[in-house]
Amino acid sequence: MNPTWVMSYPTGYETGTYLALDMGGTNLRVCQITLTEQKSEFDIIQSKYRMPEELKTGDADELWEYIADCLMQFIETHHGEASKQKLPLGFTFSYPATQNYIDEGILQRWTKGFDIAGVEGRNVVPMFENALAQRGVPIKLTALINDTTGTLIASAYTDTKMKIGCIFGTGCNAAYIEDCGSIPKLAHLNLPPDTPMAINCEWGAFDNEHKVLPRTPYDVIIDKDSPRPGQQAFEKMIAGLYLGEIFRLVMVDLHDKPETHMFTGQDISKLRKAYSLDSSFLSAIEEDPFENLSETADLFQTKLDINPSGAELELIRRAAELIGTRAARLSACGVAAISKKKGYKSCHVGADGSVFNKYPHFKARGAQALREILDWPEKTDPNEEDPIEILAAEDGSGVGAALIAALTLERVKKGNMHGILHPENFK
Ligand code: GLC
Repeated sequence: MNPTWVMSYPTGYETGTYLALDMGGTNLRVCQITLTEQKSEFDIIQSKYRMPEELKTGDADELWEYIADCLMQFIETHHGEASKQKLPLGFTFSYPATQNYIDEGILQRWTKGFDIAGVEGRNVVPMFENALAQRGVPIKLTALINDTTGTLIASAYTDTKMKIGCIFGTGCNAAYIEDCGSIPKLAHLNLPPDTPMAINCEWGAFDNEHKVLPRTPYDVIIDKDSPRPGQQAFEKMIAGLYLGEIFRLVMVDLHDKPETHMFTGQDISKLRKAYSLDSSFLSAIEEDPFENLSETADLFQTKLDINPSGAELELIRRAAELIGTRAARLSACGVAAISKKKGYKSCHVGADGSVFNKYPHFKARGAQALREILDWPEKTDPNEEDPIEILAAEDGSGVGAALIAALTLERVKKGNMHGILHPENFK
């Protein structure tokens, strides 16, 4: 539960031009966003750069240098040599980093398969700023942002019913706005109790103690073989990074138990390769429209050199459904928990990420679970909105990051310096 120092919802009337950088799992995205005079409107230009796999487990300096180079390239392309004035930047860094004003930006731990030595326990802001300074990139870092907070703020810019921002992608997490009076770790600041504060829940780490959720043997293996055993317990059951791997472990286990006769006599060496199936493989199985599951059969044949029988195909489909359904229902538990804590009887939840956007039935399964948890009566009219709806979010790491930069500049101008690491950046 990290305070993020985002201390208001947007009004829709924010204006100005900002840069936004998103260091995601697969891509680096750089955007320039102009929040226009028109309420809730914006213009955006963006470039994507591949995030080389080797950087994710390499050296910290190389990572920051690569990022600085991409930013420089973006600025040169879109502003030419002329750009002397430093542009404000919102940096979406979607890993658990504390954002408390003494140790702002300290990376608590890498998640989502990143494993770069010498960054955990340190403040990422100066590392990033050094790389910018060394290359003379004309940028001032205005805000360090979690993707969930960006999603919440971007969505609230266009829809005032938005109260929660979620990511269901490679990782899984949510943000919402709390009153400072309910945040014990900020009590020492003596802020008025009704001061709003966005919280990055980092709910991926829920139940790391394994006291609440039942785990399968496959969950145990996923955790044991991950770069950070014992961490992100909830995330490891939900997020896109793991769904394909859970499925693969189930298949291998069934094969290795002779009494189940799964893929008997077939060479499953391709299936034995860890993380060889991603969540799009599972999506494809769940999407197979044919009664005889012929697309699934083709998939197993082409990708794994396995020819499943009819009965095996049915089991494959059922396993995929169970894994996908568990992920959707656990996700709904998180949304229900925040809604209950805040007493939200009706609101919108903005969600983004590959699992939310692409995994079949994820939305419907999540909505059904919310209905069960929150005890809503069955709908009388199928077109009726649910009291709490999880909807596709606005672009959190672009527009959201720009808005957060704007909100931060605005409140600093009014003298609210909480959570500001380098006041000189705001002159
Ligand atoms: C992981 C990160 C978290 C992020 C989420 C979604 O859980 O720890 O910061 O919000 O993935 O990208």
